[in-house]
Amino acid sequence: MAYKLGLIGHPIEHSLSPWIHQQFMDVANIDGEYKLYEGDHAKLPEVIQQLRDHRIDGFNVTVPYKQVIIDYIDELDPAAKALGAVNTVVNQNGTWKGYSTDGEGYVRSMKEQFPSLLNEASSVLILGAGGAARGIYRAFIQQNVKRIDIANRSEQRANGLLELRQDPTVSTVLTLQQAESQLNEYDLIIQTTSVGMKPNTDEQIIRLDHLHPDTIVSDIVYQPITTALLKDAKQRGAKIHHGHAMLLYQAQLAFEKWTGTNLDVGHLVDELERKLRGE
Ligand code: ATR
Repeated sequence: MAYKLGLIGHPIEHSLSPWIHQQFMDVANIDGEYKLYEGDHAKLPEVIQQLRDHRIDGFNVTVPYKQVIIDYIDELDPAAKALGAVNTVVNQNGTWKGYSTDGEGYVRSMKEQFPSLLNEASSVLILGAGGAARGIYRAFIQQNVKRIDIANRSEQRANGLLELRQDPTVSTVLTLQQAESQLNEYDLIIQTTSVGMKPNTDEQIIRLDHLHPDTIVSDIVYQPITTALLKDAKQRGAKIHHGHAMLLYQAQLAFEKWTGTNLDVGHLVDELERKLRGE
């Protein structure tokens, strides 16, 4: 059976997902297609109809549809429900099931690169409180780490993430300045905002003067591959984790849900990096 897969969003013409899923299909020896279904807000009902007519087996959802797609979904998994966002849809005999694989994909990518990092003694700092931060925060809550603090420009938005945790002692909301001054308290620092995404920018969300060299610094921005924050962290002797690894592992989880195939994708991290560098 040839799988019919795809992506909806806007704009998506530069998406790496078709390349990633083609690699997965090649490795798994699975026949199928992964097509782009581009459309702005006004076109969403039309795009949805196209997917139904095409009897799509599954699709990814990206900006700006991650929330509004829920109106078209029959069942939500606990992560998608808690986050109010869906990035993966599985068509099970006409029933559309919605999942959110970003946060879990992030945690997987981290465990692959740093297998002993996450345990009940680990302290994590999340910078930012947008949609990406929410998914990652929830996934870490499920990992039973010691502490997951959140620092954001808007305190109110950071407080909004706290509804996702049960144990009130696990998280403190900080200003970005407070985070800067206590950076040496964390094993892992995760940058989840768009700061650093512009080409050739040296913009950094926080200064790293208090960074401990044993800390891992992660940035979910993958264009550029090595953001100013990661460059700075590296120069200070810290270990770094790149955003394209998250991209790959959220896709791995989606592929698993569509095809039932659990793929080892570690070898594709470097290949994806070369692709992003245009090599
Ligand atoms: P996404 O869904 O991709 O995470 P988003 O929901 O627009 O994106 O969230 C953007 C995040 O980046 C927020 O945490 C935002 O901070 P505020 O909540 O204070 O707006 C953060 N952000 C964006 N630009 C920023 C900047 N120049 N400095 C600091 N934080 C910034």
